[in-house]
Amino acid sequence: MANNSDAKTIANLQVRSIENQRELEEMYYQRWLVLREPLGMARGTEQDKYDASALHVVAMCDRLIVGSARFRELSPGIGSIAYVWVLPEFQHRGIGTKLIQKLIAKAQDKQLKTLRLRSRMTAQNFYQRLGFSTDGEPFDYLNIPHVFMNLNLPGLGDRS
Ligand SMILES: CC(C)(COP(=O)(O)OP(=O)(O)OC[C@H]1O[C@@H](n2cnc3c(N)ncnc32)[C@H](O)[C@@H]1OP(=O)(O)O)[C@@H](O)C(=O)NCCC(=O)NCCS
Repeated sequence: MANNSDAKTIANLQVRSIENQRELEEMYYQRWLVLREPLGMARGTEQDKYDASALHVVAMCDRLIVGSARFRELSPGIGSIAYVWVLPEFQHRGIGTKLIQKLIAKAQDKQLKTLRLRSRMTAQNFYQRLGFSTDGEPFDYLNIPHVFMNLNLPGLGDRS
């Protein structure tokens, strides 16, 4: 439950790109804690071959990384979002929303047309609220039901 010190911590929230190797290592550890350890998966399973060249955005609270999300370009005009997590004690306070909004802005800067992601069914409402639409039928990944979701990005000339 949020208390006065939580409110102060959230007020100090900063959402930005990873700045150094120490932050990268901390981010991978927290990514594992939230996304892989609860599934009984070992350290290392939280990373893949695309991480080295991807953009990692982190949510910082008083120098602690409390959430992150990854962005990379899949093909011309299409970007992907993956590995989205927020530490349990920081969830439901808008941090995940800020992470995704940051990546949407990055994609728009790059003039991408579409963002794609593979959502756990439990996170589907979270992405829908951010404008993503479900694409196709649910499927199992890591023994958890997932679904693909897309967000079409308006070009600068399409904005009214
Ligand atoms: C999914 C996840 C990243 C969302 O992060 P989050 O910081 O909790 O997200 P937000 O707070 O922006 O929004 C989530 C909810 O909080 C609510 N919320 C947003 N701001 C809020 C605020 N200031 N106060 C209270 N609630 C708020 C939203 O309405 C939303 O409600 P819902 O989940 O019932 O739809 C996070 O829950 C998580 O890490 N889950 C475990 C890992 C996971 O499933 N990752 C996604 C893999 S695809």
